[in-house]
Amino acid sequence: MTSKLLRGRVLTFVDEPKGARDEESYRYFEDGSILVVDGKIAAVGEYSRLKDEAAGVEVIDHRPHILMAGFIDTHIHFPQVQVIASWGAQLLDWLNTYTFPEESKFSDPEHCTTMAGRFFDELLKHGTTTAVAYCSVHDTSVDAYFTEAAARNLRMIGGKVMMDRNAPEAVRDTPQSSYDQSKSLIARWHGAGRALYAISPRFAITSTPEQMEMAGTLAAEHPDCYIQTHLSENHGEIALTRELYPWARDYLDVYERYGLLGPRSLFGHCIHLEDREKSAMAETGSIAVFCPTSNLFLGSGLYDEAGLRDLGVRRAIATDVGGGTNYSMLRSLDEGYKILQLRGQSLSPLNSFYWTTLGNARALGLEDKIGTLEMGTEADIVVLDSRATSAMALRMETVGTLSEELFVLQTLGDDRAVVETYSAGEAQLSGIRN
Ligand code: GUN
Ligand code: ZN
Repeated sequence: MTSKLLRGRVLTFVDEPKGARDEESYRYFEDGSILVVDGKIAAVGEYSRLKDEAAGVEVIDHRPHILMAGFIDTHIHFPQVQVIASWGAQLLDWLNTYTFPEESKFSDPEHCTTMAGRFFDELLKHGTTTAVAYCSVHDTSVDAYFTEAAARNLRMIGGKVMMDRNAPEAVRDTPQSSYDQSKSLIARWHGAGRALYAISPRFAITSTPEQMEMAGTLAAEHPDCYIQTHLSENHGEIALTRELYPWARDYLDVYERYGLLGPRSLFGHCIHLEDREKSAMAETGSIAVFCPTSNLFLGSGLYDEAGLRDLGVRRAIATDVGGGTNYSMLRSLDEGYKILQLRGQSLSPLNSFYWTTLGNARALGLEDKIGTLEMGTEADIVVLDSRATSAMALRMETVGTLSEELFVLQTLGDDRAVVETYSAGEAQLSGIRN
């Protein structure tokens, strides 16, 4: 049995904040501690109380930093670590000019392995302990992704993109090969250790109806797997989808027809949805994934958080690297705040930090495992320094409340604010940062 007691300012959410000052939505211990036993959280509370319960256990003192559940990124592209920061194009041109050529390099297993190491280094440096990732069309990229995640004991979700048209041959599969490879990857990885599989038809444009049918078959055969795809991100994308699927009532109808909606289905972007699409998402429990830095970078549009919430659509938030411009969920929350400002909507600091922890965990149906510091959950924890930069320290001189401090972290923070990241109770950064 291995135990450790982490000491610091401990914050954990218990529910979605109902307002900017909802103190019922979280628990906070100014001199708090987290008892970790065999990778799980055994207790949380005041240090003065837990230190007796944990007599003799190693204490790791993170004061004066904040300890909270590790960040969850619900939409990211593993093979785009060298696509991020590519200039001058909107979605379809960006895919053709930068993304598909880069993803074609993942036919080389050695490249996959090297990039998987670099990818998880970045996630952990930015405080992200769970991600839902698209791998490339090559099954070797999925093996590299999950092998590296397992070596670090990370709870990661991912899957091979299925794409059999409107892309260069080097990143195309076929309906049958996409089915066969996805099937064997699911057998190999879904539920193996902390790994979970996401069936991943890239989007309607890059799949033939035959492949969409195969994706639907996989979904029906594996109802406990996730499904991820893209929806209504860009006007050119929507117009081309309508041309390719003339029978569809709207974009979502393509996915609906093939049985891809449901409470484990993640739809990236959801910016330009029609009313019928929103209702169908709400009725099926499907999840809209907000990707702020990507939506700004690719000029895609302004996501309507309040509109979706009011209709009962479930929502998550994500980076979408490499359309997104930063691995940091703090940067995503900051840009998300600004997008909602442009729409006359407001995202409170409590709601932000709820969203990237418990909120995203609930969207994934994993709140019994990650996203909080509840007893019995997995000890995935991020340690945050609100004075990480001189600008942050200067602003912190006038900060009086926890909410204000969280807003400083979100607005001015990035990987420099991440002091340590624990996965299943093990500190991850010393080996990466030296
Ligand atoms: N739509 C289909 N593929 C992609 C992708 O890789 N990134 C983004 N942002 N949108 C997509
Ligand atoms: Zn994406």
